[in-house]
Amino acid sequence: MRNITVNNITDAVVKSLGDDVPARNREIMASALKHMHDFCKDVNLTYDEWLEAMAWMRRAGDITDDARSEFILISDILGIEVLVDMLDKKVTDGETVSTVLGPFYRDNPPVLPNGATIVQKDFDGSQSVRVSGVIRATDGAPVAGVTVDVWEDAPNGMYEQQDPDQPDYNLRGRFETDENGRYEFVALRPVPYPIPYDGAAGELLNYMGHHPWRPGHIHFMIQKPGFKTLVSQIYDSETEYLDNDSVFAVKEELIGEMKPSSGDTDLEMAFDFTIRSDAKLGMAAE
Ligand code: BEZ
Ligand code: FE
Repeated sequence: MRNITVNNITDAVVKSLGDDVPARNREIMASALKHMHDFCKDVNLTYDEWLEAMAWMRRAGDITDDARSEFILISDILGIEVLVDMLDKKVTDGETVSTVLGPFYRDNPPVLPNGATIVQKDFDGSQSVRVSGVIRATDGAPVAGVTVDVWEDAPNGMYEQQDPDQPDYNLRGRFETDENGRYEFVALRPVPYPIPYDGAAGELLNYMGHHPWRPGHIHFMIQKPGFKTLVSQIYDSETEYLDNDSVFAVKEELIGEMKPSSGDTDLEMAFDFTIRSDAKLGMAAE
């Protein structure tokens, strides 16, 4: 088409999609193009604003490497990671709700026996917490042999890979539920921390007038062959930022209570999870 106008540009680009483009790619591109073109028209985007956005994307790319994904952070600030998680992992049958994975997961954490500590380094003034619970299937039966990966930030607000003064894999562990579906480990009370804001994600936070803080939480990844993997986070009921998380990932049912402990830790928290078997997954899809 030669005579491109504001009114026909969207159709022209959508029609230009190749005949052999797979159906899903076509669906995604046609919708993305319509929304992006409508957005430019809605706000009457200026050329300078577009140039500024392109330079910002370049900065996001420049700061991204194997250890840092600026694009995941940006999608978090926009509420997109949590939205896609909710769309893709619909919750049925009372299973525990998921929430964002975030950028700090590391595979192959130390494999530890139930009840062991994930704390490799002490921090002044921190509180220890014994976390335990039962993992059940949606029919209520405890599930044995479930792999439970946990990770959290240190009392200085940093995950170990952000902090050269923490031992490798500090505050991370992999546990397995026993024959009664129980898991148990010792951690530190998690503290609020700012998501990294020294790059393009921080610029976006400023643009939106938002702070970078997340409420204190412990991450869980719960896996067993034959079950849907559950990626979630448990929030401390007494932490700040439960109502204004910078990445919108808090869900009421994921808030746990850390109570004073009569045992060898300062605090204890019980939290049970419910996971859905693939068989149930198949039934839900039918
Ligand atoms: C996290 O919970 O670790 C996280 C999630 C989204 C963005 C940054 C951090
Ligand atoms: Fe986190």
